[in-house]
Amino acid sequence: MGVPIRAAMHVHDILAATPLDRASGTPLFRQLYQQLKEAILSGQVGPSVRLPATRELSRLLAVSRQTVLAAYEQLMAEGYLQGTVGKGTFVSESLPAAAVPESTQARPQALVRPLSARGQAIAEGMARVRHHDGPLRAFRMSMPGLDLFPFETWRKLEARHWRHSTGRLGYSDDGSGYAPLRELLCAYLKASRGVRCSPEQIVITSGSQQALYLLAQLLLAPGDDVWIESPGYQGAAAPFAVAGARICPVPVDAEGMDLDYAQARYPDARLAFATPSHQLPLGVTMSLRRRLALLQWAAAHRAWIVEDDYDSEYRYTGPPLASLQGLDRAGCVIYVGTLSKVLFPGLRLGYVVAPPGLAQPLARAKAVVDRHSPPIAQAVLADFIGEGHFARHIRRTREAYGERRAALLEALDARLAGRLDCGPSDAGLDLCVHFTQDRDEADVVRRAAQAGVDVRNLSYYTHPAAGPDCAVAPGLLLGFSAFTPAQIRDGVLRLEQALARP
Ligand SMILES: Cc1ncc(COP(=O)(O)O)c(C=O)c1O
Repeated sequence: MGVPIRAAMHVHDILAATPLDRASGTPLFRQLYQQLKEAILSGQVGPSVRLPATRELSRLLAVSRQTVLAAYEQLMAEGYLQGTVGKGTFVSESLPAAAVPESTQARPQALVRPLSARGQAIAEGMARVRHHDGPLRAFRMSMPGLDLFPFETWRKLEARHWRHSTGRLGYSDDGSGYAPLRELLCAYLKASRGVRCSPEQIVITSGSQQALYLLAQLLLAPGDDVWIESPGYQGAAAPFAVAGARICPVPVDAEGMDLDYAQARYPDARLAFATPSHQLPLGVTMSLRRRLALLQWAAAHRAWIVEDDYDSEYRYTGPPLASLQGLDRAGCVIYVGTLSKVLFPGLRLGYVVAPPGLAQPLARAKAVVDRHSPPIAQAVLADFIGEGHFARHIRRTREAYGERRAALLEALDARLAGRLDCGPSDAGLDLCVHFTQDRDEADVVRRAAQAGVDVRNLSYYTHPAAGPDCAVAPGLLLGFSAFTPAQIRDGVLRLEQALARP
């Protein structure tokens, strides 16, 4: 039983922090009992940890062995400890929930001093952002198909770096990222996304989330207006709000962000955030007319455009569309990319293609936050790209996701035609569907979870500051990329159950 941890010093250190009070009227064994119990309940001494032998602890604490024995016996009687003679005394593997006092249960603890206003905004910034947790099941959104990832190749590349990594274990003096990776990404983005860039313009970040945070900090002053798509990506609104910007929700139609609306309502915006290649969650692509109008507005108003190009590798009806950045001649588009969709989110690598002059402040801002991204992960990724695995993986996943998308469309058509209307499906990892009849989104989401599928209600993507102009027909977002056609067909049957009238 138990993890063979030699915890004598650890437990002693914890107890030494509040020495026993020999002048107190409370017996020493009672004080020791109390301290150990608190250490267990607070998690400082975890389940299955072996406690020091009574003789050893009595020596360390300079108390009689009887004192330690009495404390251990009391804790054993109450279920905190278990043990057998000769094998030692261990913290119980599972404490009864009722034994955990309310004050130690997971709930926000009161702070002795309040956070600053900025700290409060940061701490609450991502409160609206939700992830499904638990086992991966249909139709979790925006998840790459991990079943297709070449783990063995990645493992070999990584092992190679660990064998010859001495140069990459210290600090790097370049906050913008591993130079060979920036060169490879630059070549890739030019060829596949029509991005106009040089390696010096690229800054590697910890996912696009960090890129957005740094950009918001560098470019926005409190009170600046920022256009965001509504419905739209909640992860982007958070860093802008944290920087003190006024979030200006802009409706989205079949051509993308409604620029007439945005210009009429918020003409002096400092920054526009958009997903032109594939709008999240509606799946529309911004029309060329809108792209040109957006660029014209930004150039005329000296505003920035942040182009979030998160999953554009996946287009099923033709080659990927060129980026908005590639059309920019005024240097106002900041292109943000991520490896989260094309590889896997836990990698936490993304990048910014900054307009000239912005790359250096961005790299310096990143250094303030975390100096630089982990060099070995960057070097492994560089090899993965350089040796052709990246291009192969994109080809393979594009083909597989195309099949998964077709399986979803077919199954929806076979089982739920007339009840759901599908949105654009030519790109991305998810499909947006609208109810054709009056349905309560929250109720459907709950019933779907009970039936065994994860779906996201479209209203989740509406920013709280959005008015009725941003209203979206009720519906769901369904992720298909992470599931085999068989799992998708099974998921649609479950969704059908959830949509059946009670
Ligand atoms: C619109 C959009 N942008 C970017 C991302 C990726 O964020 P990150 O690079 O921080 O993982 C996501 C992930 O879901 C997304 O939906």
